[in-house]
Amino acid sequence: MEVQEFLNICLEFIWTLIKVNYEIIKAMIRTIVPPEPKSVKGDIVLISGTGHGIGKEMAIRFAALGATVVCVDINDTSNEETVKMIQARKQKAFKYRCDVTERSAVMHLAERVRKEVGDVAVLVNNAGMMPCNPVLQQTEQEITLMNKLNINANIWMIQAFLPVMVQRNYGHIVAMSSMAGLQGIKNLVPYCGSKYAVKGIMDSLAVELRSDPRDLSGIKLTTIFPYIINTGLCKKPRIRFKNLMKVVEPGEAADIIINAMRREYTEISIPQDLHYLNRCSVFYWARARDFVRVPN
Ligand SMILES: NC(=O)c1ccc[n+]([C@@H]2O[C@H](COP(=O)([O-])OP(=O)(O)OC[C@H]3O[C@@H](n4cnc5c(N)ncnc54)[C@H](O)[C@@H]3O)[C@@H](O)[C@H]2O)c1
Repeated sequence: MEVQEFLNICLEFIWTLIKVNYEIIKAMIRTIVPPEPKSVKGDIVLISGTGHGIGKEMAIRFAALGATVVCVDINDTSNEETVKMIQARKQKAFKYRCDVTERSAVMHLAERVRKEVGDVAVLVNNAGMMPCNPVLQQTEQEITLMNKLNINANIWMIQAFLPVMVQRNYGHIVAMSSMAGLQGIKNLVPYCGSKYAVKGIMDSLAVELRSDPRDLSGIKLTTIFPYIINTGLCKKPRIRFKNLMKVVEPGEAADIIINAMRREYTEISIPQDLHYLNRCSVFYWARARDFVRVPN
């Protein structure tokens, strides 16, 4: 019996090793020969936070690729500008005012969009905020609101839009984490926590979808880890290696995100090289890792 148990463990270990190496080789091939970008023409793409910054730039670009864009923002005026800009080019965009921190508002949004526009194929959870101060100076009110927006809203949106994706075995969810979701950064204690949470939500959603007995392989997930994008969210950026960690314009960031989504990458950082740097840094001891931290 003991010998049998030992043999089972050995077999399981070898089988796991084979599967791990198979996936590593597949990932290496995908890095050298990236998959062709999929088309989003005719797809309904819903993005939160389209009134400003990266969300606005993504809406413009998805519409230019032939998608019908559903623009969602709490700020009706700025969101209307985005929608009008798209419609002026004879492309398709719809405007919805919604506070995505409120679960009931998100559920109502999903019902209205389904009736008025159709089934959402691509969900981009983009809206976020970043209070920047030493932790002892951050107020309960701003931390609570930030967690509701950066964390809870991701979950409400998934609960509202995933069921249709499951029914159709077709869809793609994109989430905005941050480099602050991969490493600790000073003055961003609550924000880092919220962006680590986004990574946790997406990682566990992937596991849940993979282990579902139904075939849900048509639902893809992409998590984005930007460093500093020039939207005004990060007020006074401190940059260490200016060539490697340059501040990226929101339009360029939107191009990188849409490219990653269309090629079905699971994760991507902006700038892209940072992801490899971060991956290598997990092998360092904690104190050594402090010296490659961005910013130190
Ligand atoms: N800009 C950066 O340097 C940077 C870096 C890393 C990660 N990110 C992440 O990227 C995402 C977009 O950042 P950005 O810089 O474009 O932001 P931004 O501040 O330029 O735009 C955010 C948009 O979200 C909307 N919004 C805010 N609260 C909302 C709510 N409750 N409901 C609906 N809409 C709401 C705002 O009205 C605004 O239009 C965020 O999740 C952010 O954390 C940004």
